[in-house]
Amino acid sequence: MMLIHIQLLGTGKKVSAGAIAGSVVAGVVAPVLGILLFLFYRQRKAQQNALLPSSKESTRLASTILMQKVTASSTQAGIASLAAGITVDKPVEFTYQELFNATEGFNITRKIGQGGFGAVYYAELVGEKAAIKKMDMKATQEFLAELKALTHVHHLNLVRFIGYCTESSLFLVYEFVENGNLSQHLRGTGYEPLSWAERVRIALDSARGLEYIHEHTVPVYIHRDIKSANILIDKNTRAKVADLGLAKLTEVGGASLQTRVVGTFGYMPPEYFQYGEVSRKVDVYAFGVVLYELISAKDAIVQSTDGSASGSKVLVYLFEETLTAPDPEEGLKKLIDPKLGDDYPIDAILMMTQLAKVCTEEDPKLRPTMRSVVVALMTLSSMSFGI
Ligand SMILES: Nc1ncnc2c1ncn2[C@@H]1O[C@H](COP(=O)(O)OP(=O)(O)OP(=O)(O)O)[C@@H](O)[C@H]1O
Ligand SMILES: *[C@@H]1O[C@H](CO)[C@@H](O)[C@H](O)[C@H]1NC(C)=O
Ligand SMILES: *[C@@H]1O[C@H](CO)[C@@H](O)[C@H](O)[C@H]1NC(C)=O
Ligand SMILES: *[C@@H]1O[C@H](CO)[C@@H](O)[C@H](O)[C@H]1NC(C)=O
Ligand SMILES: [Mg+2]
Repeated sequence: MMLIHIQLLGTGKKVSAGAIAGSVVAGVVAPVLGILLFLFYRQRKAQQNALLPSSKESTRLASTILMQKVTASSTQAGIASLAAGITVDKPVEFTYQELFNATEGFNITRKIGQGGFGAVYYAELVGEKAAIKKMDMKATQEFLAELKALTHVHHLNLVRFIGYCTESSLFLVYEFVENGNLSQHLRGTGYEPLSWAERVRIALDSARGLEYIHEHTVPVYIHRDIKSANILIDKNTRAKVADLGLAKLTEVGGASLQTRVVGTFGYMPPEYFQYGEVSRKVDVYAFGVVLYELISAKDAIVQSTDGSASGSKVLVYLFEETLTAPDPEEGLKKLIDPKLGDDYPIDAILMMTQLAKVCTEEDPKLRPTMRSVVVALMTLSSMSFGI
């Protein structure tokens, strides 16, 4: 899998945003695109003046610098850190017995998912619906400290971390999000196809969750595993980002997990999987891939029709190929999720494609911040596109 990915990245063409802007949307959404590009360049300029970690610096150093930057520049963050210092509420620590009871003894019928870290069970804990993640590992003291900090991070678009248990194994307790993951909604069975308006709202919701952890928490969090399986949908079809903080597991230690790469192929930007460079732009790239998924309903790695590994393709490059072809708009129409039927404004899709394109730029400096992405998506969702 990794070899395929690297090879594809090697052949991936680099094209300037400007060139694509000109060829794809030629005048159709020019004013809107103007706003997008303006935001994008303004943000880029601001970035050049900002203190950003150089490529060789370690993850830890990078996050320290990012943290300092935010602490110094944002009053909101300052207030948050003050509040965190004053708040003494103890994070909820559950006993194994409580969790055992709440899941009918981790009954297989309660299992709702399986991820790279372990199995997820549905639970009813003191009358509240919860999702319990049984981790295939034990937590270090350092990781427990990280977990305690996480119980202070609250946002409507983040899956709430309720508490944990360290008896016999490590268990993480989250709020239960009723309506499954985005991957299921796009490609699974049992759900109505998402309308275009719902897709835009899901994009905006998850962008807001990410913007929050990038800009308004102390310390700043970099998610590092943004993907459609980690975007959960609630009963009102609003989206919440799941698994915040899990990336820390490999960083601060967890027995038996030393070799796990945090991140998922198809979502990792080149600087991250080649050199392990971590910045907020890692999440921006993965978010761009999710935008492409919302448009096409395709997996981040598209399997070839004959099922051979050599024929599979990274979604980012499938779009890039299309956007640089002689007739990009025609090609793009072929990539749009057939489940949308004709029920979408093509101009809005072009705009979202454009946004996904800048988010997945090979050079992290060329990618926008999540704040700019939120503004762009708000603009997109407020436009009527004549329907
Ligand atoms: N809080 C939750 N509420 C409802 N369902 C959840 C919750 N957390 C996880 N799930 C379900 O369990 C599935 C598996 O989650 P898990 O995080 O273990 O794996 P993953 O997201 O596929 O991969 P990764 O381990 O890389 O995060 C999710 O895709 C989702 O469908
Ligand atoms: C778990 O359930 C058993 C049997 O119903 C009960 O005796 C026990 O007190 C419960 N334990 C907890 C911690 O809720
Ligand atoms: C699991 O739950 C099902 C349905 O509630 C029940 O029939 C079964 O006996 C349970 N299994 C165990 C091992 O508790
Ligand atoms: C999404 O949810 C479904 C059902 O809960 C689960 O089977 C699947 O493993 C989850 N993850 C992905 C990537 O679909
Ligand atoms: Mg997950």
